[in-house]
Amino acid sequence: MAHVSLTETRLAEHVDRLEAEHPPIDLDTVDYSVRRPQELAARYGHVLDYMARVELEVDRNVLELTTLLPDPPEIDRRFYAEVWQPQEIRHGLILDELQVHLGRPAAEPDLTTVGVKMRILGALAHLDAFQDVCRMLYYLTGMATERSAVLAYNLLYDGVVELREDAVAQTVIAPIRRQEPGHYAFYQLSARGLWAELAGWQRWLVRRMRSFSFAPVGANNAAQKADFGEVLRSLGLDRDAEEFAAQISRVERDLLWAHRRGLAVPPYVVKGLRDAVELAQRKIHARALHR
Ligand SMILES: [Fe+2]
Ligand SMILES: [Fe+2]
Repeated sequence: MAHVSLTETRLAEHVDRLEAEHPPIDLDTVDYSVRRPQELAARYGHVLDYMARVELEVDRNVLELTTLLPDPPEIDRRFYAEVWQPQEIRHGLILDELQVHLGRPAAEPDLTTVGVKMRILGALAHLDAFQDVCRMLYYLTGMATERSAVLAYNLLYDGVVELREDAVAQTVIAPIRRQEPGHYAFYQLSARGLWAELAGWQRWLVRRMRSFSFAPVGANNAAQKADFGEVLRSLGLDRDAEEFAAQISRVERDLLWAHRRGLAVPPYVVKGLRDAVELAQRKIHARALHR
């Protein structure tokens, strides 16, 4: 099966390149000077906090991964352990330091809790055929997450430039956002390669499990979902949640739902984002009432 080895070769080259060209950001290159901290905090403090938390939770993600994929392909292990984790943890540290500079409390990442669902899946994943289902779900989550990050950092960068906070734009946001597309590309390559390998029942299971387990990046409960909704709002993405949903799930739609011609966006992705926006609206409303 020639395309398997082609995917493997391309993945190995991709990971080599990421490792060589994108070392973790050197903390000494970051300039935290801010001209108007209050304005920056008021406009984007919440976004920085959310992103810092999600980036710092990379250590829990690795723990989940080792549970979910007890026997991963070497390239997956190399990617998450040697490239992805070292980069993301720096993103988290830098964003968190920035928000503390703005006078905000540090992020509170959850670094230890591997959920029951994840542990059950992990137990089943000792069966190779089922581990492939889990791997596919992991790549799908990775694609949506990294694509969300790319879009969010692009908007954050533009907003910070508009506020004329050049040091933050050029030494915090720009270097971070430069590293995200490579992560997305890794998951995309992996997802395309693995999907071609899956049997009918595995594909069916992936569709079912994905449909009921999709959640926006970093949103594992109602409070975090509302937080995510507020991030969408701060970035101006709440007005067109459907378009954002489409952008983060394009390849997923093309792979999983190719047989449903005319399906613009997987409905569970739209619903996940709309729910987040709605929860945020309710929270903001409640805050206004209590003032
Ligand atoms: Fe990141
Ligand atoms: Fe990333």
